[in-house]
Amino acid sequence: MTVSLHTSILGIDFENPFLLASAPPTSLIESIDVAFQMGWAGAVLKTITPDDLKMIEASPRYAVLEDKKRIIGFQNIELLSHKTVKYWCDGIKYLKQKYPTKVIIASIMAPVNKNAWQDLVKTLNDTPADAFELNFSCPHGMPEKGIGMAIGTDAEISSTITKWVKEVSQKPVFVKLSPNVSDITSIVRAVEQAKADGFAAINTVQGFMGLDLKTLKPLLNVNGKTTFGGCSGIMVRPIGLRCVAQIRQASALPILGQGGISTWEDAVQYICVGSDAVQICTEVMLNGYKVIGPMLKGLKNYLEEKGFSDINALKNKAVEVLTSHKDLLKTPLEYPKINHEKCGRCGKCVTICMESEHQALQLNDGNIVVDKNHCAGCGLCRFVCPTGAILKE
Ligand SMILES: Cc1cc2nc3c(=O)[nH]c(=O)nc-3n(C[C@H](O)[C@H](O)[C@H](O)COP(=O)(O)O)c2cc1C
Repeated sequence: MTVSLHTSILGIDFENPFLLASAPPTSLIESIDVAFQMGWAGAVLKTITPDDLKMIEASPRYAVLEDKKRIIGFQNIELLSHKTVKYWCDGIKYLKQKYPTKVIIASIMAPVNKNAWQDLVKTLNDTPADAFELNFSCPHGMPEKGIGMAIGTDAEISSTITKWVKEVSQKPVFVKLSPNVSDITSIVRAVEQAKADGFAAINTVQGFMGLDLKTLKPLLNVNGKTTFGGCSGIMVRPIGLRCVAQIRQASALPILGQGGISTWEDAVQYICVGSDAVQICTEVMLNGYKVIGPMLKGLKNYLEEKGFSDINALKNKAVEVLTSHKDLLKTPLEYPKINHEKCGRCGKCVTICMESEHQALQLNDGNIVVDKNHCAGCGLCRFVCPTGAILKE
């Protein structure tokens, strides 16, 4: 079977579904040039703002969450692009001339002012960028000026700005949504009514990495003070998957899914919740543009193994199985089955089961025994067993 990674969204051709997200890896034209040579299908440019929007960055900008010395997430407090609009206009023209088949999406943000948004759009209309992405969703940049997440958490303002942009845009418009809302679908509906063409999600999740317990200073320490920032990377993936699934449940428009993609498998998960293509930032910041190689290879092999000719066969697979808790068929119970050869007799499962309500496991004559009268079939014991000796019955 011939497998193709090609995909088409709103009439735009993508060589493959992997885009660089708007972030430090898309902050410089010459770096994007390198990324395109390495196989990325496209780039969402670091968010472009009107030249008169003043921004002062903090130093440092990152704190990290580690698990056994592996970074599984960032908290960042970076703001937007510091390059001029002209830099981006010239750069887009240069990149498109050199790479006509690559997709370039101009991420934009401006204060809540019709002229500011429309002037930016009109200027970028004259470039060969394929689409716009409206950044309504940066959690730390800069709510005091009424922008970023201050827009994306308010359905009315999101709708108003989308309308302003659509009045003048000559390109498709994706709205980049914030996960920092209690009901993402209310924003989805508002911007869809305002004629948005698609969505990008998620931007970073607002969070706080805490203090260094030795010094009691913030882990993200800016002269002794800190602030809430945007969390990204592996640690936010379940939030991203949930948000994209909810967007897909509420709308049929295209979605550029993102948030914690570090492998091709993660990308597949995003496609299964309804993404038409994916974007990646943190993984590239940690391991470089070269991560695209294994992602392309892994996705292609997977499609081949599954007998799928392209990613369309995967789209919405997870959405099809999502329902409400009340509609889950709750029986029969899934009892644990002990592999006595693998069991290390440590008793951890017995302790955890007892201390987490059910008291269904006992160590009898050196063997773990399941009392089905007490077992709720919750499955916790399978995950805490250090030797993998507990299976489903
Ligand atoms: C340091 C940093 C800077 C970012 N800057 C922007 C930005 O300028 N515009 C934007 O829309 N998103 C920005 N993002 C958010 C990313 O594009 C992406 O939505 C988010 O990090 C989740 O994806 P990831 O887990 O692959 O990083 C930034 C993220 C990070 C970590």
